[in-house]
Amino acid sequence: MHAFNYKEIRTPVFEETALFARSIGELTDIVGKEMYTFQDRSETSLTLKPEMTASVIRAYIQHNLGELQPLTKVYYLSPMFRQERPQAGRLRQFHQFGAEAIGGNSAIIDAENIALAVAIYKRVGVKDYSVKINSVGCEKCRPAYKEKLKSYLNNVFEKLSSESRNRFEQNPLRILDSKDETDKALTKDAPLIKDNLCQECTSHFNELQSALTRLHVGYSVDGTIVRGLDYYTKTAFEIVSGDLGSQDALAGGGRYDLLTEQLGGKQTPAVGFAAGIERLLIVMEKQGIDTHDPVHPQVFLASADEHGKQWAIQKSLELRQAGIACEIDLLGRSLKAQMREADRQHATVVIVVGEQELKQEQVTLKQMSSGEQLTVKTVDLTSTLQKLLSS
Ligand code: HAM
Repeated sequence: MHAFNYKEIRTPVFEETALFARSIGELTDIVGKEMYTFQDRSETSLTLKPEMTASVIRAYIQHNLGELQPLTKVYYLSPMFRQERPQAGRLRQFHQFGAEAIGGNSAIIDAENIALAVAIYKRVGVKDYSVKINSVGCEKCRPAYKEKLKSYLNNVFEKLSSESRNRFEQNPLRILDSKDETDKALTKDAPLIKDNLCQECTSHFNELQSALTRLHVGYSVDGTIVRGLDYYTKTAFEIVSGDLGSQDALAGGGRYDLLTEQLGGKQTPAVGFAAGIERLLIVMEKQGIDTHDPVHPQVFLASADEHGKQWAIQKSLELRQAGIACEIDLLGRSLKAQMREADRQHATVVIVVGEQELKQEQVTLKQMSSGEQLTVKTVDLTSTLQKLLSS
């Protein structure tokens, strides 16, 4: 996130319910069936955040973040709550990381945002994911397309699933996203929004594709990506993995140029994505990627006697202040037990100190991987360790 110059934002775990209803959309699954909503003591309706974009925009408006810089780039890592039927990759409390760029129209920002998500998957070593992009149009081209889609669907209306029939009037685009096999077959040849865009949306979509190519992001255009939240305009995208089963989206996002104004702010174009952390872990485990990032002490200061122990306590403070992770014995163990502990914790360097060493003002470092030993003056210990551990 920092490499792409996004700065962290943290928002409260709950917001007023109306914020989510107005942004995500009254007719979406999230608002209609999945929110954890409750009243506080003053009878204000609150909701545990089911996603972050609405909260970020609320904060952006409330704190005038747009006045600080023309393009606000923020990222987050936070728990989210949706009352869905739990299954693999679908939890009621899950975690997302995500990034929002608020204040620019250019499709290059969309491409950079997608490239950021991809860079994270690359960094952790995930293979075999695919980036699917679409354009869901804008308020100029979407109404006419909706009518076109509805007249196509009218012919098969009776055969659609009840869920899709319910979506027909208000949200027919979501029918294209149905998981129902019959719906899928019935909508196979339905008109797609990407083929019915206005001039502005078409050139934005073309610009997105050439920027992705320049950023070396492989992608495919998928006209059925419509997303389950109502705020999208133009770019919509998902990153999917075959290792996830039916809940195959690792990440999803897109542009939402109307949301800030809808929530009471100035007209401000924006784009962002969010990614499920538990789904990432499932994929990493399936692909045999180590998901643990254990903390190892770089240095273990083992004490041979009381003198050594007192010295180690003081020295540990100095080493830690110098940025060297270190551990000392905190359980009063024998030297032999301390050496075993250093080994168990995979310390890089072990130093044994006692009265003898301190009298001579020098200690012996043992590099655990090679077994190599080095005698160093106590005054030079911190600088020697810094050099040794950075090489
Ligand atoms: P979303 O598609 O609802 O988009 O969620 C993004 C990601 O969160 C999904 O692709 C999935 O990995 C993960 N996720 C969603 N629900 C669950 C669940 N119940 N259990 C586990 N993981 C889940 C959004 O939330 C938008 N705010 C994305 C965005 C940001 N659009 C613009 N900016």
